[in-house]
Amino acid sequence: MTGKRAIYPGSFDPITKGHLDIIKRALTMFEHVRIAVAHNPDKPSGLFTPTERCDMIRETVADLGDTVSVDAFHGLLVSYAQEVGAGTIVRGLRAVADFDYEFQMTLMNRHLADDVETVFLMADKSHFYTSSSLVKEVCAFGGDITPFVPALVAERLAAKFAKSGS
Ligand code: PNS
Repeated sequence: MTGKRAIYPGSFDPITKGHLDIIKRALTMFEHVRIAVAHNPDKPSGLFTPTERCDMIRETVADLGDTVSVDAFHGLLVSYAQEVGAGTIVRGLRAVADFDYEFQMTLMNRHLADDVETVFLMADKSHFYTSSSLVKEVCAFGGDITPFVPALVAERLAAKFAKSGS
C-alpha cells in the first residue's frame, strides 16, 4: 500500500493517544494520511467545535511533518475521500464492541463507492479501552485523563470543563 493516500475520518472530540497510535501505524503503510474531522453544520454537536478539534490535532501531529494533513468535512465520507483523491479509509479497531458499528459503516460505504476501500488497524493494547467519550466523562468528574490524551488536549479539556462549571 506504500505510496497511496489514505483518509482517517472520525469525530475526534477530542483526539486521544489511541487515535495518534492509529495515525502512526497508518503512516507505515501510506505515503500521506489525511485526518478528516466529520461535522454537520446544520446539527452542531460535541464538546469542541470542528475548528478546535482540528487545531488540537494539528498541534498533536506537528512533528509528523507534511505526511499528515488535517481537515474538517461534512456530507458523505466517501464523497469527500473521492474529492481529495484518497482511495483508502483507515479505521482503528479496539475491543470487539467496535466491530458491529464498523462492519455496518464499511458495507454502507462500499455500497456508496465501490472504489474506496476500508482497512482496519488494531490499536495498541494500552489504548484498547481509550475513547473520546470516556475521556470526556472522566475529565468532567475530575478524574485523571493524562495517560489517555496528549498534554495539550488534557489542558484544553480541563479549561472547557472549568468554563462550563462541570
Ligand atoms: O469517530 P466516529 O464518530 O466513530 O466516526 C464516525 C464517522 C465520522 C467516520 C462517520 O460517522 C462518518 O463517516 N460520517 C460522515 C457521514 C457519512 O458518510 N455517513 C455514512 C457512513 S456509513
